[in-house]
Amino acid sequence: MKKKPKKTRKPALRGRDYLSVDDFSAAEIRSLLALTADIKAHPKRYRSALTGKMMALIFEKPSLRTRTTFTVGIKQLGGDSLLLTPADINLGKRESVYDVAKNLERMVDGIMIRTFGHDICTGLAHHASIPVINGLTDLEHPCQAMADIFTVIEHKKNLKRLKLSYIGDGNNVAHSLMLMAAKLGTTVFVATPEGYKPRQDVLDRAVALARESGGQVVWTADPVEAAREADMIYTDTWASMGQESEADERRRIFAPYQVNMALFSHAKEDALFMHCLPAHRGQEVTDEVIDSPNSVVFQEAENRLHAQKAIMLELLRD
Ligand code: CP
Ligand code: NVA
Repeated sequence: MKKKPKKTRKPALRGRDYLSVDDFSAAEIRSLLALTADIKAHPKRYRSALTGKMMALIFEKPSLRTRTTFTVGIKQLGGDSLLLTPADINLGKRESVYDVAKNLERMVDGIMIRTFGHDICTGLAHHASIPVINGLTDLEHPCQAMADIFTVIEHKKNLKRLKLSYIGDGNNVAHSLMLMAAKLGTTVFVATPEGYKPRQDVLDRAVALARESGGQVVWTADPVEAAREADMIYTDTWASMGQESEADERRRIFAPYQVNMALFSHAKEDALFMHCLPAHRGQEVTDEVIDSPNSVVFQEAENRLHAQKAIMLELLRD
């Protein structure tokens, strides 16, 4: 008797890009978070999951965590990576984004890019037939948000009915965190100075996502309102990469938003302190808070490794 051919189900994320948190549905994110937990618990089981796969890592801005975790992560999955800096490709100047995409798709299996304009990242993804992962643009930092929400789950289990408060600059990290939390039903408060709100379209999208998930997204200029009874307080640098010339002015404007013990004490007793790092101690956060037992910043950094292994595995596997 002729054997029935086995039904082969195409993995849902194979070949996809991860440029924004909003590229994945809540269900897809939940399954990536479950895979992250398994990879973290049983790293050896995944030793040859991506054997022979090569990732190009394009960095147009500095990095410690992203570079290390992608390099180590792909290696731990049996694959390899190569680093491309502006000295190598000078994207958009020495060679167009289109031409870089058309070259790399014939040479490697996936691309991670850290750059300035989000359009460079979407352009690369549009033209390349291989998966592209956003390792930070001026608009979003979606791998960070995946690792952060995984860290929250490790401590708080159920994401619903939690108050996650981001206090500081309405930047790339704030955007991705807001979208991620809103998708998964968490209440998000974002406290920024009036002129430094998250981008209105991202805020609107997060509000719409929260409406679907049962979460809530609130912007306020009042850091105390955000901190009050919070389960997690998150902050990031006041001047992101590329904004160095504004650093002095921002230091003045953001001073009331510093996460110090006075502000942190408005949160719940067991509130987590979170930061994507690098931290500017004495500016957006004091030593007392970042070094306190409530701080999970290095756990977040480690979880970049596990979360990105899950992302690469799902996007690149055969
Ligand atoms: N959090 C983060 O992305 O760190 P790096 O800039 O060091 O990669
Ligand atoms: N908002 C920061 C994050 C660094 C990981 C920046 O873009 O520089």
